[in-house]
Amino acid sequence: MTTQPRQWWQSTTVYQIYPRSFADSNGDGIGDIEGIIGKLDYLSDLGIGVIWLSPICASPMRDNGYDISDYQAIAPIFGTLDDFDRLVTEAKARNVGILLDLVVNHTSDQHRWFLESRASRTSRYRDYYVWRDPAPDGGVPNDIQSTFGGPAWTLDPGTGQYWFHQFAPEQPDLNWANPQVRAEIYRMMNWWLERGIAGFRMDVINLIAKEPDRGITADGPKLHDYLRELHRETLAGRDVMTVGESWSATPEGALLYSGRDRAELSMVFQFEHVMQQWHETWGKWQPKPFDLVAFKRVVTRWQTALADDGWNSLFWGNHDLPRAVSKYGDDTTYRVESAKMLATVLHLLRGTPYVYQGEEIGMTNVPFTAISQYRDIETLNMHRLHLEAGLPESDFIVGANANGRDNSRTPMQWSAASHAGFTSGTPWIEANPNYSSINVAAELDDPNSILAHYRRLIALRKQLPIIIEGRYVSWLDEHPEVFAYTRTLGPQSLLVLANFTAREITVDIPTSLRGEWRPLLDAKPNTLHDRATLGPFETITGLAERTL
Ligand code: NOJ
Repeated sequence: MTTQPRQWWQSTTVYQIYPRSFADSNGDGIGDIEGIIGKLDYLSDLGIGVIWLSPICASPMRDNGYDISDYQAIAPIFGTLDDFDRLVTEAKARNVGILLDLVVNHTSDQHRWFLESRASRTSRYRDYYVWRDPAPDGGVPNDIQSTFGGPAWTLDPGTGQYWFHQFAPEQPDLNWANPQVRAEIYRMMNWWLERGIAGFRMDVINLIAKEPDRGITADGPKLHDYLRELHRETLAGRDVMTVGESWSATPEGALLYSGRDRAELSMVFQFEHVMQQWHETWGKWQPKPFDLVAFKRVVTRWQTALADDGWNSLFWGNHDLPRAVSKYGDDTTYRVESAKMLATVLHLLRGTPYVYQGEEIGMTNVPFTAISQYRDIETLNMHRLHLEAGLPESDFIVGANANGRDNSRTPMQWSAASHAGFTSGTPWIEANPNYSSINVAAELDDPNSILAHYRRLIALRKQLPIIIEGRYVSWLDEHPEVFAYTRTLGPQSLLVLANFTAREITVDIPTSLRGEWRPLLDAKPNTLHDRATLGPFETITGLAERTL
């Protein structure tokens, strides 16, 4: 149980916007800030308290803004700084905070610092980035690979050295070992904080303390020193929220990032539950059947390890992941049922829930059939590498449609109007053709919609401290089809019992869960006997005066 006063970011729900694909106000086919402002009422009706904006700063957009060329300017395709200030003000008027995406592991190769750094070995910016001499044979300094495929080193013929990049060559890694780099970043962060933002989502924060000469990319020895310094220089004394993206975080590591006495970050955003589903060799490009038992084991490990300290994010999807209902539910026959089930299971756990745009209406993966339909730099690189390795293109498309990042980047489906009501022009990536039936307009006034269900869950979190503080206990750990857990706070417990399949399932109910449960999300009280039958993707929830 939390022993410190509850923080506002523990009872809020975050909504992630991928600005490029959310709402286009000027018909250029690309979402923009004005478009977001136009949807603030929709978001505040949903009940969310924070918007995480994927990057909106100036960028050549090689990686859709995760390659920033000016940290203190807004990309013209998204609008102006005035538009941004208006967004902050308008959001604040609705009790919604804006979280900026802080991408400081790397910049764009078009950032002034990199242009200067590259200009000569004696530039005063040279050491802002990671430069190394070629290996004796003229090749790369070592064999570290970039996340987007290929070596993490690219030769600059002009100065005869390689620069280090953990992502695309156009995303050179900043050298955090240089105190001047850190000071520039802190100055920039303070500049944004003074504009009234609610905090930062920190992109691949686990990578900043790389030590490539020792083969270290994630979780370098200086990582937590840097984060504590960053906190001291920017966050201390401000009531803001920070969430650190870390693909490598363990529960033990999460306690370092987010422990209450650590003065680092509010919470981590980690992916163990996601990666658990990936292929050992081919990662996400080779789909693997969903293994609920293994998945529950991961969730339970995190819920338990962070029971008394530290804080976690809860999410099914984001802009790097496939659509939740396609990945973990059933995006055809039981789309509505499974989307609601997934939402319930996630939102009643301990942690801060994140809703990725479109998840609240059950948007699905894309049915693309040709590589020309994809836009994502990672997908396109991997496609090339797969073909070079002699693998069939059709297999790659199956993998890309199952797990590729464009699944979550198609236009937000607002209505049945052309291009899902996202733009009056031609969208930068085509809309999922199912927008004619899956869209916000179709769900807005339907009390049985997925959207209405999200509204109820988000409201419930604000009302029931048990959702924030309750102790988590898992049940039926080895059951391959049902996810069962309880949360207990004082004399009260909350139950979640969810069927992850499209079949009717009958389960044996553990003795201590039998008896009456008062309604939580549905109208009817549930009395559990020794066995219970759950319909396809059905969830039973309830509250009871009992300690578990
Ligand atoms: C993680 C971001 O979420 C992803 O979209 C991006 O490509 C990489 N970091 C590089 O910034």
